[in-house]
Amino acid sequence: MSKIISPWRKDFPILSTTMHGKPLAFLDSGASAQKPRAVIEAMGGVMEAGYANIHRGLYALSQNLTASFEEVRGTVARFIGAGSEKEIIFTRNSTEAINLVAKSWGRPHLKAGDEIILTAMEHHANIVPWQLLCDQIGCVIKVVPITADGQLDLSAFEALLSKKTRLIGVVHVSNALGTHNPVEKIIQTARAYNPAIKILVDGSQSAVHMRINVRAMDADFFVFTGHKLYGPTGIGVLYGKYEILETMPPYQGGGDMIERVRFSGTTYKEPPFRFEAGTPAIVEVIGLGAAIDYVSAIGMDAIAAHEKALLEHITPVLRSVNGLRLYGPEDTAKKAGILSFTVEGAHASDLGMILDQCGVAVRTGHHCCMPLMEVLGVEATVRASFGLYTNGDDLDALIAGLEKARMLFGSGT
Ligand code: ALA
Repeated sequence: MSKIISPWRKDFPILSTTMHGKPLAFLDSGASAQKPRAVIEAMGGVMEAGYANIHRGLYALSQNLTASFEEVRGTVARFIGAGSEKEIIFTRNSTEAINLVAKSWGRPHLKAGDEIILTAMEHHANIVPWQLLCDQIGCVIKVVPITADGQLDLSAFEALLSKKTRLIGVVHVSNALGTHNPVEKIIQTARAYNPAIKILVDGSQSAVHMRINVRAMDADFFVFTGHKLYGPTGIGVLYGKYEILETMPPYQGGGDMIERVRFSGTTYKEPPFRFEAGTPAIVEVIGLGAAIDYVSAIGMDAIAAHEKALLEHITPVLRSVNGLRLYGPEDTAKKAGILSFTVEGAHASDLGMILDQCGVAVRTGHHCCMPLMEVLGVEATVRASFGLYTNGDDLDALIAGLEKARMLFGSGT
């Protein structure tokens, strides 16, 4: 039964290598995914034969790469169902995208006493930018609690809505629990209460596992990052509804985001260019485009179905490991391919090191979700996260590694 095989694994050169003499079982795609040949070649190709700065040169190299770069904006817009490529801002990562919203939307639109609703399962990237803003202007953060099986408490969420609520920041899929949050329902509830409330959805983990449609979802802002989506590091995306982006001042100042600079005063370009100061991550944008083309050719529904099969297979097996506690929803329909667990009597980092010796790469620690760890009452968990290339064999290696650890620790006999 464990012979679930990814037909796309062969596209990822690193996955045929070994680690400590064992086949590499890479189960840390939630932190950063491996790269398919299509992405590696697209980026290498630009650097070998197509490179120049963009938006600035009248010569063919620059013009051609400018056109390819701007085409990716359209590719991203189609990938997430945005209305226009003008709603797509290239950032460094999801973190920068959220900081951009906190600074360019939050700073001018919020005032002391205004309320921001976040959830107890947010990544630090969707907490700290808002805390920095609150420190500056005196707004207040309210936190939606989670239920015992790691889902958002939606009645508590409704009770937190108030006349002072200005923004809701919610993670679509939790990086630390795998929980797939019902963001559509949350957005509908917020809109029914007060249509002026803005909603930011952190799609860092969801854009990788499922089909996204920001317009159907009706998010005001949606962020995701390239490196978890089989693309390069250094490139992320902020989607914002155009009418909101138009009300926002620049995030950073510099070249390429201006219309006219005078010492007596400067005017700025329209979105999205207003938010992209300086030479952008040109090669990385090309890599992101290649990554999106790659997953789109496979189909996000096919990727989701493959990962669902893995999740359904491994969940009962993991649960049967002695002393193992799995966090997040029991119902696999409510989660993505992310498994967070602890094993009684064994520290997460020790487990991580033993698994590494078995060729199994997992993340251990707080997963940049310290407030969530406090709620769970643990310092750290072990997290195994899937990608489209994950095979049943990777999961078998995980279970065998845990068995080895159990024998070493003499626990859970
Ligand atoms: N946010 C990334 C993770 O969940 C780094 O591991």
